[in-house]
Amino acid sequence: MKDYIYLDHAATTPVDPRVVEAMLPYFTERFGNPSGVYTLSQSSHGAMEEARETVADVLGCSPGEVIFTGGASEADNAAIKGGAFAMRREGNHLITSAIEHHAVLHSCQALDDYGFETTYLDVDAAGLISPEDAAEAVTDRTVLVTIMLANNEVGTIEPVADISRAVKERAWALGRDIIVHTDAAQAGGVLDLNVDRLEVDMLTLAAHKFYGPKGVGILYIRDGTPFTPQQHGGSQEKNRRAGTENIPLIVGAAEALRLAVEEQGTNNEHCTSLRDRLIDGLVGRVEGAYLNGHRTLRLPNNANFCFDGVAGESVLLGLDMEGIAASSGSACTSGSMDPSHVLTAMGVSAERAVGSLRLTVGKSNDGEEIDKVLEVLPRIIQRLREVSGAAQPVG
Ligand SMILES: Cc1ncc(COP(=O)(O)O)c(C=O)c1O
Repeated sequence: MKDYIYLDHAATTPVDPRVVEAMLPYFTERFGNPSGVYTLSQSSHGAMEEARETVADVLGCSPGEVIFTGGASEADNAAIKGGAFAMRREGNHLITSAIEHHAVLHSCQALDDYGFETTYLDVDAAGLISPEDAAEAVTDRTVLVTIMLANNEVGTIEPVADISRAVKERAWALGRDIIVHTDAAQAGGVLDLNVDRLEVDMLTLAAHKFYGPKGVGILYIRDGTPFTPQQHGGSQEKNRRAGTENIPLIVGAAEALRLAVEEQGTNNEHCTSLRDRLIDGLVGRVEGAYLNGHRTLRLPNNANFCFDGVAGESVLLGLDMEGIAASSGSACTSGSMDPSHVLTAMGVSAERAVGSLRLTVGKSNDGEEIDKVLEVLPRIIQRLREVSGAAQPVG
């Protein structure tokens, strides 16, 4: 067994050694700027275009519809602001959900200053967004809808294709076209990413969520989709994202995606069995323990709980002392005691939501590690409840 147990794969994953190997030559020998005309540059350019084709194969699109970015946050910002600004003469209304990642929520909020308004769709107790609600929210001013494919905190998988169909049909009935974007950052290498089956115009991915490097993302933009670039400078990425391309990271992102998709069946099965071992070992066995999110429509690697009478941050510290890395709420909000906006939107009380814990398994975890967690975690919770005198589950 390793000297720590890593259960925070939704925050980030280690880079697969095969991906590191694929990237290495592009830091040293094959370092040319892909915009150059000489052979060294053309070798970088070739590697980048090969990477684009690999990604396009997975998404079921043409390579020209794939843009490499500096991460999922950048891809979300570019998609939402780029789509909204390009459509500003058609309308000023956006639709998203209350449980999106902050890269989406804050991009929508930033557009308030430019005269846009956003509807934040409610979710049900399992975190599901209703296609009917989404369609009802469409107005004669709506220009863009952005709904995540899978939630990063509770792992709920959203019916993106149904939502897209519903909002587009409603928009067509109003005599207009709208853009549908999905943030699929948590779904890379795990769920079907075919953009036609998802019925989306734009899609976001982050390589570090599927054993690729950090700082590189993928933005799919369907041909013909209105888009105003958000980063100006050189003509890279067909004038859609200026800046010298980061070839080693791009090569790494594509190789990581290729491997993740190739090994998707085995990894999903492995993760599902570990996830269910966690859920079955805690819910119904630890008093005041609840599963957050949908029981079956959830990412194979995600187990998210609330434990009454404890603070999630204290549980994290207790786990860390036992060599177990996990997360409370999402990684980005860790360190703050605000209840998670996702749990709050699902109707979990603030009191219960502060006791949330996210355990996300990965391909290198094994049953022995899960059993260690199942042995240690109930003890930590019990001790914290005794110390705080809050042994009684919250009603
Ligand atoms: C759903 C979702 N969107 C966007 C992001 C942002 O990714 P990055 O920090 O790589 O830009 C994350 C990362 O946690 C995420 O889970």
